[in-house]
Amino acid sequence: MVDLILKKRRAQALSAAETEWWVNAFVRGEVPDYQASAMLMAICFSGMSSEETVALTLAMAHSGACIDLAEVGVAVDKHSTGGVGDSTTLVCAPLAAACGARVAKISGRGLGHTGGTVDKLESIPGFNAALSPDEFVKAIKRAGLAITGPSAELVPADKMLYALRDVTATVDCIPLIASSIMSKKIAAGAGAIVLDVKVGNGAIMPDIDRAILLAEQMVAIGQGAGRETVALLSDMDQPLGLSVGNSLDIAEAIRILRGEESGPLLELSLLLAAEMLAVTGIAHTQREGLSRVKDAVANGTALAAFRAMVEAQGGDPQVVENPSLLPAAPRRETVCALEAGWLLRCDTVAIGQAAVLLGAGRTRKEDPIDPSAGIVLLRRPGDRVEAGEPLAVLHAGEETNMQEAAALLLRSLHFGPAPPVARPLVQGRVTASATERFVE
Ligand code: URA
Repeated sequence: MVDLILKKRRAQALSAAETEWWVNAFVRGEVPDYQASAMLMAICFSGMSSEETVALTLAMAHSGACIDLAEVGVAVDKHSTGGVGDSTTLVCAPLAAACGARVAKISGRGLGHTGGTVDKLESIPGFNAALSPDEFVKAIKRAGLAITGPSAELVPADKMLYALRDVTATVDCIPLIASSIMSKKIAAGAGAIVLDVKVGNGAIMPDIDRAILLAEQMVAIGQGAGRETVALLSDMDQPLGLSVGNSLDIAEAIRILRGEESGPLLELSLLLAAEMLAVTGIAHTQREGLSRVKDAVANGTALAAFRAMVEAQGGDPQVVENPSLLPAAPRRETVCALEAGWLLRCDTVAIGQAAVLLGAGRTRKEDPIDPSAGIVLLRRPGDRVEAGEPLAVLHAGEETNMQEAAALLLRSLHFGPAPPVARPLVQGRVTASATERFVE
């Protein structure tokens, strides 16, 4: 291990066999934490070639169990690098499934300012987001899509390495982020992967240049591992949906799938679902995919796919017709504007943190959450607001101190005398053959 750390420190490339050796030895407990930490730091300073990043990802992916999805044909997975008010999975997965895709999605729980799809789905009474691999395959065959949480057997190397990165200032390293995310996608078994790489103040990559580098590395890893992979770069300078919570987000997704609401959450979900159809070959082009997924909203098949997923995973499907069956917070408080002006931008991290204060998220992995808590925003950047007008409604339990969350939310909204310059929702697209950039 000393020789390998030295090699990496000198910016020489490790062979696939060397990478596989140290990752496996670390997982077996034969390489101690301090040597693995030194290797991570050497990678941060020296970087890794594309071949090395693929080798690291595959070594991590194969460090535990891998799900076999051969029975369901070419399944597609979708991954977001994490956002606020980001319920795209809840919308794009049923959209793609309604058009014939087999969607196999492993999602996470919320931590810090970002929400998690598993927490949102578990707010549906009875919903099981802890499927065994067999149950996962059965649910996909039955409903066309399944969304479950990560199991302890998948990618142990990532859990162990991430715990070291967290305490050695090595989280913020593009090849390590790319291999961490992609190892989990590869172990989850889908043959095609659509990535949503967030750009903006609430994203792990706030600026477009680094976000593109991350997207390029993840796409190269996916292709290198034999998975058709494409990435969209999407704006995270404002929450995508207007709800930031759990049951609130499920209700919002249902309204969108019913065709009752539009906005950036629907727009991005349509684009991601169109990519899901294109990477699986169900649509010949992304454009054809877009027209098909729009039809799936209009003709009700996307809503039916969401209902089928809820039913296949033990949830109460009647929430689709009757969202009042979802947990509802006993207290609501409206937050009003202190001044008049144009809403210029939102600090999405602070909005996510305000939702955590209300009980909708957690600061430590083991914290409980309140499924009914959260924020419903009433305004978006670009809106004109008069002093005293409602900006948002906070939802919380009886015991929650809402004042701190209200103050944080108010500080997160920035007003000015003139309308802001609009930013495109999708700022780039990365495929194996090209990187397109839609902003400077
Ligand atoms: N998400 C992951 O899964 N891993 C990282 O390293 C960063 C974000």
